[in-house]
Amino acid sequence: MNRADVAARVIAWFAAHARPLPWREPDAGPWAVLVSEFMLQQTPVARVLPQYAAWLERWPTPTALADDEPADAVRAWGRLGYPRRAQRLHAAATAIRDHHGGAVPADHDALLALPGVGAYTAAAVASFGFGQRHVVLDTNVRRVLARLEGGQAFPPASLTRAEVTRAQSWLPDDPAQAAAWAAASMELGALVCTADSPACERCPVADACAWLRAGRPAWDGPPRRGQT
Ligand code: ADE
Repeated sequence: MNRADVAARVIAWFAAHARPLPWREPDAGPWAVLVSEFMLQQTPVARVLPQYAAWLERWPTPTALADDEPADAVRAWGRLGYPRRAQRLHAAATAIRDHHGGAVPADHDALLALPGVGAYTAAAVASFGFGQRHVVLDTNVRRVLARLEGGQAFPPASLTRAEVTRAQSWLPDDPAQAAAWAAASMELGALVCTADSPACERCPVADACAWLRAGRPAWDGPPRRGQT
């Protein structure tokens, strides 16, 4: 399989079929991306959309949020659930104000050092917010790669070193293309290569998929619990 060719087809599919989500607008900026990633950590897109708009209206910059009280952030988080995320986002905004001059840092390690920012979120912000080349492995991307190249219905329960290595080999060399691949492979997993009803007939890379070629074998690993 020519990974570069397959990735290019997923990127072209994304250009034609991606949902028009506000944090993907060209002028959204890294703060909007950071806010979206905190909200999307445990909450579906449809429930995030209204809260996201209200949040950025009220706090258009990290400094605006940092200058208000954490309790305001928790109240505004509303019904997104897991309100500790609001406290962590406030703490991240405070660190950005105090240590980065109010601008979300572009450096991956600086992002990783922010409160509430783990490997996934640091890579997502560096990639979606700054157009850098990073492996962005959420559950959707992991499932797409498990099927496409691994021939398995699902990835292992927790992220393995082998998965990271495989994901690295899929990254286009050009940073802008790598960022496009990250967003596109995630969207493919969300819209087409879904956990329970994959729409292979709508998949732009079905001809290259090891799992489809094998007859879509059922998952025979340990029971999936919350693993999508
Ligand atoms: N889930 C996590 N990050 C996302 C993003 N940037 N777009 C859509 N869904 C997501």
